[in-house]
Amino acid sequence: TTRRVTTRDIRAHKGGEPLVVLTAYTAPIARLLDPVCDILLVGDSLGMVVYGMETTLGVTLDMMINHGRAVVTSSSRACVVVDLPFGSYQESREQAFRASARLLAETGCAAVKLEGGREMADTIAFLVERGVPVMAHIGLKPQMVHAIGGFRAQGRSELEAEAIRADARAVADAGAFSVVVEGTVEPVARALSAEIDIPTIGIGASPACDGQVLVIDDVLGLFDDFTPKFVKRYTDVRPAIRAAVESYAADVRSRAFPAPEHCFGLPRKEG
Ligand code: KIV
Ligand code: NA
Repeated sequence: TTRRVTTRDIRAHKGGEPLVVLTAYTAPIARLLDPVCDILLVGDSLGMVVYGMETTLGVTLDMMINHGRAVVTSSSRACVVVDLPFGSYQESREQAFRASARLLAETGCAAVKLEGGREMADTIAFLVERGVPVMAHIGLKPQMVHAIGGFRAQGRSELEAEAIRADARAVADAGAFSVVVEGTVEPVARALSAEIDIPTIGIGASPACDGQVLVIDDVLGLFDDFTPKFVKRYTDVRPAIRAAVESYAADVRSRAFPAPEHCFGLPRKEG
């Protein structure tokens, strides 16, 4: 039997083969991705891709706990990381610990992820010292959408570039075991990946990162509200789903389904 990938394994992986990370929100997807991925991320992107919300701001801790539990229960190999949702950790390091403790205790996940750089360094250190492994998330921070005024690539100006690099150093110094770098221009992602000794997981942050993450629904073509430049769609399952559903509807309407083999108490045709 193979043991689960730990946050220590991930941390020690700096400089190795790129880490493979995908989001997972449900049991069937977790089962499919578990053998392939180093990390399964239960991202608060589930608010948009599973619940149809316009931003991630409405996601609750209870939602993250329910989906986190489904993914942990349905995986055995990958390291499972669950996002702290908006409002569950920004108020104080104590609030962050309480929310993190619930995620770890009630889902069985190995670590939490939170958005923030220098402003969260104190909180990250507080959590790590108390047994909560933390993955940080810098660059484009979707929970800051209203403060940023939309989603756009980060690090284009000299000032922004230096701020993101300082964020990377701060979360690494605070004890984060890895950091997601989102929507960040290549030279900045490259520089900060070389500067810090924890793995950087990029999304829209170039191949210079130590790993890559994508939202599984984007990879499968399931989520099509909008597709950022950094998404690569590896397949489009929508035509297959549409065709299956249309066949079902036609069979129901023509009474071709259910057939005798799907029924209880009907004699089978003799062969
Ligand atoms: O919520 C999420 O899916 C994420 C990843 C895109 C990094 O935070
Ligand atoms: Na997220």
